[in-house]
Amino acid sequence: MTHGAMKDLERLRYATMPTKENAFSGTARGMQGSEVLRIAAEVRKLLSEGRPLCNLTVGDFDPRQFPVPDALREQAIAAFERGETNYPPSEGLPALREAIVAYVAREQGTAYPIESVLVASGVRPLMYAACRALLDPGDELVFGVPSWNMNHYAWLTQARAVPLMTVAEHAFHPTLDLIRPHLNSATVVHLCSPANPTGTMMSVEELERITTAIVEENQRRIGEGRRALFLLYDQVYGGLVHGAAGHANPVGLVPEVAPWTVCLDGISKMFAATGLRVGWSLAAPAVSVVMRDLLAHVGAWAPRPEQVATSKLLGDEPAVEAFRVVMNAGIKSRLDTLCEGFTALRSAGYPVDWVRPEGAIYLSIRLDLVGRTVDGRQITSNEDVRYLLLEQAGFAVVPFQAFGLEGETGWFRASVGAVSLGDIGDAFPRIQALLDRCQPSETN
Ligand SMILES: Cc1ncc(COP(=O)(O)O)c(C=O)c1O
Repeated sequence: MTHGAMKDLERLRYATMPTKENAFSGTARGMQGSEVLRIAAEVRKLLSEGRPLCNLTVGDFDPRQFPVPDALREQAIAAFERGETNYPPSEGLPALREAIVAYVAREQGTAYPIESVLVASGVRPLMYAACRALLDPGDELVFGVPSWNMNHYAWLTQARAVPLMTVAEHAFHPTLDLIRPHLNSATVVHLCSPANPTGTMMSVEELERITTAIVEENQRRIGEGRRALFLLYDQVYGGLVHGAAGHANPVGLVPEVAPWTVCLDGISKMFAATGLRVGWSLAAPAVSVVMRDLLAHVGAWAPRPEQVATSKLLGDEPAVEAFRVVMNAGIKSRLDTLCEGFTALRSAGYPVDWVRPEGAIYLSIRLDLVGRTVDGRQITSNEDVRYLLLEQAGFAVVPFQAFGLEGETGWFRASVGAVSLGDIGDAFPRIQALLDRCQPSETN
């Protein structure tokens, strides 16, 4: 480095660092870091030490286990090489929006006009834009917990988060009974199916009941001249369904809810393409325009070559189907292997349980160890259980508390996108050895 460059670097030492107190907005000061990312960093450290580890923490895919569809990769490269490198239209390329309309009609039986479709760089910016478009500070955003990140979107928009504690008996989804007391005061109700972190789906009947109640609430509000109640429906895992029950779109079930619904979807999960950044929303054209204008200021367009590639892939029904068969079988075999392992442990009398996975890449597992002792030490929290599993059994999972579910319930998320079947199988003897050391405490 030259003397001049050294001097420049010295000047940039940031000796007087901006601090939380003297530099940032209240929104920035109150932001919570991601618990999943904190745990993932711990896991990376153990992996770098060469420890045997089954990493079920990240909601992502290892491209060696789950590569993107060949057609997506090839078409993105071809578009890049053709020079498709300028700004796309802020609502998305027309060819992609048309392909999305056809895909949704084909897969979900719902015919949207092209003006309903807004494309952005993944589901996240669309979630943010929907919240910004619909919520003022203090407005109520109602969502079931455990949930993926809705507390953060509430915080970013300064909306009032109304988390509803769900239970395993309802597959950790909110029911109309839970939502009903908030129907009159809420501005947005958020639902997600298949769900992160639970891997469960809403029953079609319950989804229909909730959707109908939202329509009725809006009819009342229109009569009273009040602002509408919106349904924000995250269906990013809608293409990853493992059971017999198909994925349902609320607008397909109750078309009258269309004006008040924003559905979110994208290629991140169904095509294992989290890094390619293409998502879309389906909403009333008036809502889509506002979300588009918000996102235009952020510049959160999906990259143009990926938009071209996604339009070609979505339009190629046989290619989508062929990829889906392989991808979903890969996810299902991993979930099944986990379920079989935990079923065997449960049958042998160990305090473990799970909820049948129906979609997405997750399994809800319960290790009911709080209150037991290990090597004479009391286990007092889910965090203790998580740490024991990680350190002593090389089994890395995320407690449901990271997704807002309160209490030391023993429930954890296991995410299978970044592990092999072998990684899962190898973990069970280690888990069993740890469980053998966990004794009921004397006071139990
Ligand atoms: C339920 C849910 N919605 C949205 C997202 C974000 O999707 P994207 O990567 O397309 O922004 C995720 C990512 O994990 C998710 O689990």
